[in-house]
Amino acid sequence: MAETQQIVIASPRRHGSSIGQPLTRRDGLLKVTGEARYAADNHPRGMLHAVLAVSSIARGRVSFLDVAAARAHPGVVDVMTPANRPPLALDPDAKLHPFMFRLDLLQNDRVRYAGQPIAVVIAETLEAATEAAALLSPRYDAEPARIGLDSADSFIPSTIGVGSPSEVQHGDVEAGLAAAEYRIEATYETPAQYHNPMEPHAIVAEWDSDRLTVDTPSQGLAWAQERIAGLFDIPQDNIHIRSPFLGGGFGSKGLISGPQVLGILAARLVGRPVKLVLRRDQMYGPVGHRAPTRQTLRLGADRQGALTAIHHHMGTATSTFDDFFEPSVQVSHALYASPAIATSAEAVRLDTGTPLFMRAPGEASGSVALESAIDEMAIAVGMDPLDFRLRNYAEAEPISGKPFSSKALRECYAQGAARFGWAGRPLAPRQMRDENGLLVGWGLGTAIFPAIMFQGKARAVLHADGTGLVEIGAEDMGQGAWTALAQIAADSLGLELEQLEFRAGSSDLPDAGIAGGSGHTATAGMAIHGAGADVIAKLAELAMGDARSPLFGADNAGVLARGGRLIRRDDESRSESYTDILTRTGVAEIEGRGSGAADPAAQDAYSMHAHGAVFAEVKVDPDLGQIRATRLVGAFAAGTIINPRMVQSQYYGGMIWGVSFALHEQAVLDHRSGRVMNSNLAEYHVPVNVDVPSLEAILVDESDPYVNALGIKGVGEIGVTGTAGAIANAVWHATGVRVRRFPITLEQLIGG
Ligand code: MOS
Repeated sequence: MAETQQIVIASPRRHGSSIGQPLTRRDGLLKVTGEARYAADNHPRGMLHAVLAVSSIARGRVSFLDVAAARAHPGVVDVMTPANRPPLALDPDAKLHPFMFRLDLLQNDRVRYAGQPIAVVIAETLEAATEAAALLSPRYDAEPARIGLDSADSFIPSTIGVGSPSEVQHGDVEAGLAAAEYRIEATYETPAQYHNPMEPHAIVAEWDSDRLTVDTPSQGLAWAQERIAGLFDIPQDNIHIRSPFLGGGFGSKGLISGPQVLGILAARLVGRPVKLVLRRDQMYGPVGHRAPTRQTLRLGADRQGALTAIHHHMGTATSTFDDFFEPSVQVSHALYASPAIATSAEAVRLDTGTPLFMRAPGEASGSVALESAIDEMAIAVGMDPLDFRLRNYAEAEPISGKPFSSKALRECYAQGAARFGWAGRPLAPRQMRDENGLLVGWGLGTAIFPAIMFQGKARAVLHADGTGLVEIGAEDMGQGAWTALAQIAADSLGLELEQLEFRAGSSDLPDAGIAGGSGHTATAGMAIHGAGADVIAKLAELAMGDARSPLFGADNAGVLARGGRLIRRDDESRSESYTDILTRTGVAEIEGRGSGAADPAAQDAYSMHAHGAVFAEVKVDPDLGQIRATRLVGAFAAGTIINPRMVQSQYYGGMIWGVSFALHEQAVLDHRSGRVMNSNLAEYHVPVNVDVPSLEAILVDESDPYVNALGIKGVGEIGVTGTAGAIANAVWHATGVRVRRFPITLEQLIGG
């Protein structure tokens, strides 16, 4: 990024408040000095290296593996195939609940997708294991691969996303379209995207009879423990997962993946610690991906430009052996008002790995289509795209009629537009050029993401010396969760950060739930907030019942915890330090517990979302069609901002992914072999610094009294939404060409 903004502190710092401060990452120094120990950095004594052999066909069976040749290679300890893979207590294809995804754990010789693990070579060195894996020289009985949305018969999935209905109807869409003055119908295609966190999936596994210790990146420690416990039929508590640092997750590390379990199986087989790290190309198969979509939007609007109907239909793909349906259409449920809204879905089964969660699953792909269609409608009506959105954004959730718990979208539009300089944008395309003759276009996209909470727990301790400890099994994917959560922890105990020990990232700590769905800060934060409040309540009780305390007789609600002291609310001159209270009463420490979860009553009453608006400028070479996103301004409202620096960084990351979605990223599959042809970071394009020259994220003030007591919504995913549509709309504005297949590439501009 050539330009970055000064950090704007969301709210003035209250005395004694860590929340709201733009602190740098607590683990930043460890990371930049190489001291942070990622999973693959672990080398327990006696450790062996495991390397996967993966299928080069997409469908059929493995008819031969030269196990003898691999085994004979110097340094090889064992070769794990379906013939000798240790037994599992649970069929890897069992699906006991919708979140249990089927795994490829060498259960048989079937091949269900290219890149599927078919054997694991375990050796004294990585080199020996790699060389021996190549000696396996697999042969296959191959069947034709089914790749691409038109290669199989489609069906209507019973649910999409996580248990959401695949068909939703509100009002009469056909009547709304028939009555409309303006109608558009357009189909948008988005490609398969594959997970490319900096750190590939890695595991170091060590068994000690029926106890297991693993170092592996995980976005959800307790879920991973539970899955492993089920597969091996051991108590969950026998499994210790350490996950202090993740080099990105983005959903791919939300659930334990097949290759991670293969590492555990390999350690079981050889009776020694084993390390297994996926090669970059091995990420393109067994760890989930964003499914391709083909979405058709039908919109109607009346003479005044008010929407009369929204029909959003999606086609997508899942694997032949499991169900995950990218819920693209859900974005149409909560963003724009219309008397009639219908969403529907169809899907095909392909010979690929099972698609899964990827940053803003559903909203990312769905908002690209919806925001493009809304732009097309604004143009049809002859309105400025911002005015059209202001005319049509929903004041209450259209389908349920529920009010939003808070919605600062109008301010997002206003602040973003002002900062970007949107006013005066010509309506017609191809009207603006820069000093070099490049076509310039401006586009807008609305951002939205639901405010979700999972369930989490935390423990807090106050020591007699006035220091505190907060423990929670929270995961930090690199987004800065530990920094933000420690800020909440310090405030919950009324301590400065320096007086607090914060422990996280290990499965022997209280279950923090999953770092996903943009719900981690809210869930873990509320658990921590509750644990601290529990400690303070117990401490206050000690003081208030003691005639020697200046707080004697104050009732519980009448006490503040700040700066290591309890202070009477009605008279701040009367206070007592934690140390004095604990020392006098002879109490060595006070422990508190807290939990975080959504409030069902509030959820029944309100629709909860973060909102935003993204403004994009692109420049297009009129002769060569080359496209650059030159300027992005996003304005987002997401409730209480715990750490504006971390939040801004999350918005940047999301917006950069939006650039990636619009202009760069796609997996290209060979329809004959079913293989991903660009399974490397050279050919799987993602934006680099020069692709994102100017980026601004405005943190719009918002206070939501209903999402949770701290008012926290999520920020991790919303930045992806809105941005890609804004860029597509800017490309139209620059060129007059409406590209409906993503990513937008230069040949689509000069060809048309
Ligand atoms: Mo996210 S796709 O919920 O990690």
